[in-house]
This record gives sequence, structure tokens and C-alpha cells, in this order.
Amino acid sequence: MQRKSKLIDSYDRVVDYMRISVTERCNFRCQYCMPEKPFSWVPKENLLSFEDLFKFVKVAIDEGITKIRITGGEPLLREDLDEFIKMIYDYDDTIDLAMTTNAFLLKGAAQRLYDAGLRRINVSVDSLQSPIAHLIAKKNVLKNVLEGVEEALKIGLKVKINMVPMKGINDNEILDILNYSKKKNMTVRFIEYMENIHANTKIKGMNSEELLHVISSRHIVSDLGFDGHSPSHYYELSDGYKFGIIEPHKDDFCTKCNRIRLTAEGNLIPCLYFDEALSIREAVREGDIDTASAILKEVVRTKPEKNRWGEDDENISTRAFYETGG
Ligand code: 5AD
Ligand code: SF4
Repeated sequence: MQRKSKLIDSYDRVVDYMRISVTERCNFRCQYCMPEKPFSWVPKENLLSFEDLFKFVKVAIDEGITKIRITGGEPLLREDLDEFIKMIYDYDDTIDLAMTTNAFLLKGAAQRLYDAGLRRINVSVDSLQSPIAHLIAKKNVLKNVLEGVEEALKIGLKVKINMVPMKGINDNEILDILNYSKKKNMTVRFIEYMENIHANTKIKGMNSEELLHVISSRHIVSDLGFDGHSPSHYYELSDGYKFGIIEPHKDDFCTKCNRIRLTAEGNLIPCLYFDEALSIREAVREGDIDTASAILKEVVRTKPEKNRWGEDDENISTRAFYETGG
């Protein structure tokens, strides 16, 4: 599909990637993401229907978005997700479509998603030990997650694994998760914990130096640098296996950022760290495509230069990660 235009922010970064959270609800309560205490979800009437979300997807594609990731919360909690994926794919079959999921419900959904046009998924696997996976997600999840991954691989989906290493919780499993991913031909990305006010306050993440120290104790690791606009810094083992580390605390993390995020309520968020957003909800509900397009351009224009995790150890984000899936 020939793009009519490009979205360019005030720092000359081309924005061509939109992450769409189809629900902020989740069947897990990961400690690094969700509040400890019960809290209230967004009221149902505020959620955009897939028809309304799709109206905005068309605007975004026409304005220059070439890559879309479906996220949540947990996207598989939303019914008819495969139909939404098919709507997008039918509109533009050159779109690079992916999904991030916790995989709990993946076994039963993978084939329908594949048939709808999905080819790539990212799955969170923070532990391969059932009690630890339970402790992190506050639910007995491991068996379902691993079965979901197996089914996805069997069907032919490309799978990447995400792990958030946390000191004293799963930091002794870094090599195990690297090995598990390697054996199954999946790329693993270790994500530095991103401090946010909704998470368990006791969590201590690991930075990339600490992670590399652990991996280098067993493997010879060479630095491959960055690959395109992926936020992941890639490394290679001596046998050619590649893995990534996502380093949001590093000063250069934001220099190639190409993404914006849309919540299930229609808030368009220009940066992972900040709460600031503009709503496209009323515009799409009224079918006012010109206004939706103007809001998209304004959000791109106001995209901040960088996040604030790296500035100071005390900085934590006030944004709810469960709304938009990291
Ligand atoms: N820090 C780092 N990664 C996070 N994720 C969610 N919250 C955080 C956080 N606070 C990651 C999870 C999941 C993806 C959606 O985002 O690992 O795989
Ligand atoms: Fe759910 Fe993902 Fe948050 Fe875990 S990290 S609670 S799976 S949204």
C-alpha cells in the first residue's frame, strides 16, 4: 500500500508504529504491572468497539502507520479479537501485525489468530518454575503459558519471549529462560524493570550490565548493537543465538522511538513514561475522521524527547502499564 503521508515528530523521528491496547483488563496481576489492592476498571461504556477502533486504524494507516501491535491488559480477554485483526489485515495486507500476550488463553486462540493474518507474538515468561511464576502473576499460570507457546510454535507463529528479571525473585532463572528460548528458536528479550507507581514497591529490577554479567558467566557474548527501530539492544552468543536487552534507563533509549500508544478507551499516548494523552473517542464515535486525524498529528507533534527513568534513580512513571502493555 502506498502511504500518502508520514508522521514526523518535533525531534525528526518518523512515527510509523502504533500499539493498540484492546482492553486494560487482565487475568494476571503481575507484580511489576498491577496494583496490589483491588481497583476499578474503566467502565464498559468508555471502551471503544472494534468498529470504532478500526475507524481510527484506517486514519492511522493512511497517515503513515505501517506497524501495529495489539496489546492489553491481556488482549485475548476481548472477544472477536481475530475479527479485528482480520479487519486490519484486509484493509492493508502489507501491515506488520503483531500481538503481545501473557499466553494463558493462547492455546485455544492461536489458530484463529493465525487464520486472521497474525504472524508474530511476544509472550511474557518471567519464570519456568511454577511457584515463582505464580508469585509473580499472583495466579497459577505456568502450565497454560507453556502450552500456549507450544501451540503457537506448532501453528507457525513467530514467538518472542519477554522476561522482566527481578532481584531475589527470578534473577536466578536468566540462563534457564535464555536456554529455553534458544532451544525453541525463539528470541528472548530481557526487559529492565520500569519503575511505576502501580507496581509492588519492593521490586528491584536488573540493569543491562548486571544481566550481561550473569549471561557472560556461562557464554561468550558479543554486542550487535541496535536493529532498526526496535527498542532492544541485541547480543549474540558464540553459537549464533541472538537475544535482546531492553534498556529504558539508558540515555539513548528514546532517540529512535517510532511509536505511539492507543488505549481501549481511545486515549492516544505519545510516550511510555508520561500520562499525557489526547482522546480520539468522541471523534471516532461521531465518525469525525478529520478531527481524529488532527488529534493524531497533535499527539505526534507533542511526543516528548525522552523518558525520565534515566535522569535520576528516584524517577518513577505515574502511567498505568496495564493500560497499554509496557
Ligand atoms: N517493567 C518492565 N516491563 C514491563 N512489562 C509490563 N510492565 C513492565 C514494567 N513495569 C512488560 C512485560 C510484558 C510486556 C507487555 O511489558 O514483560 O511482557
Ligand atoms: Fe497482565 Fe501483562 Fe500486566 Fe502481567 S504485565 S498483569 S500479563 S498486563
